[in-house]
Amino acid sequence: MLPETIEWISGAPMLRLLDQRKIPVSVSFVDCRSYEDTAGAIENMTVRGAPAIGVAAAYGVVLAAHSDISTIDKALSRLSATRPTAVNLFWSIEKMRSVFNENKNSPELYSLLESEAIMIDREDRDINKKIGAHGAVLLPDKATVITHCNAGALATSGYGTALGVFRSARDSGKDIKIYADETRPRFQGGRLTAFELCEDGFDVTVICDSMAAFLMSREKIDAVITGADRIALNGDTANKIGTYGLAISAKSHNVPFYIAAPISSIDFNCPNGDSIPIEERDHSEVRKVGGEILVHEDAKVWNPAFDVTPADLIRGIITEEGIFEPSDIKKLHKITA
Ligand code: MRU
Repeated sequence: MLPETIEWISGAPMLRLLDQRKIPVSVSFVDCRSYEDTAGAIENMTVRGAPAIGVAAAYGVVLAAHSDISTIDKALSRLSATRPTAVNLFWSIEKMRSVFNENKNSPELYSLLESEAIMIDREDRDINKKIGAHGAVLLPDKATVITHCNAGALATSGYGTALGVFRSARDSGKDIKIYADETRPRFQGGRLTAFELCEDGFDVTVICDSMAAFLMSREKIDAVITGADRIALNGDTANKIGTYGLAISAKSHNVPFYIAAPISSIDFNCPNGDSIPIEERDHSEVRKVGGEILVHEDAKVWNPAFDVTPADLIRGIITEEGIFEPSDIKKLHKITA
């Protein structure tokens, strides 16, 4: 069975996070009792995945409000400084900031902030079910698909975006065979997606990232579906490093490439992919695997955590409001305004 990714323990109050750094070797949890704990857990990737870090940050603000209302401003900036690429983090922090600004002097401030965070959390799960239902119609019975990184229950409040599409397709009676890219350098595919899908009884095969193009040349792949960290107004999409190469391979092999993401992953202020901030992480993530040094100490290392897939490589963006061509993404502004 799949453990809960994020659990809010209201009476404590405390945020219990599944420690994703330990999966699949062990299932353990990290308890956050302050906004600093929460920010640290987002930075060190105890919790990761665009929607999940947004939900965790919202609860981080609630923890700040519980300890001392005068720390909320500091908490909002600290949580904003944890990871730069996934826009869901800033979307959720702005929601919490609005509740704070509108109710600064209210005796109900704490419970209003807590209700907002709980709503962001619950809505995420419902949205993923809708994304899943829209996306499931794209897949035939006995579909073979490829996904990258982890865009599943572990990356969200539950159910997942890309993996939610596979869940929904299976629930509608279809057989789905999934290839999961292992996703260097942090192995979210090999460690997290394979764990999540195996626990859920799916047929999953892990491949190294470098094998995806060859796989497409040898086996009929019906679709590639990944999540997103930030979608620009023109449809360019940032997602885990390696997604861009996978999309190029898909185009080359006539395999449709889809993004599955909530509308909160769209940055309506960002014109195109060049404006998306890309997180660069520590060189040790590339230099070492499981503590073992693999790279000569004099060699430099470049470690961008995300890349940008240009809109013209994306067949469709699967959202809770339906499936959109990348060029139509701006229309969603009207729905959300
Ligand atoms: O660095 P991570 O593990 O937070 O990156 C996660 C991804 O790139 C996911 O594909 C994305 O956040 C979508 S999760 C539904």
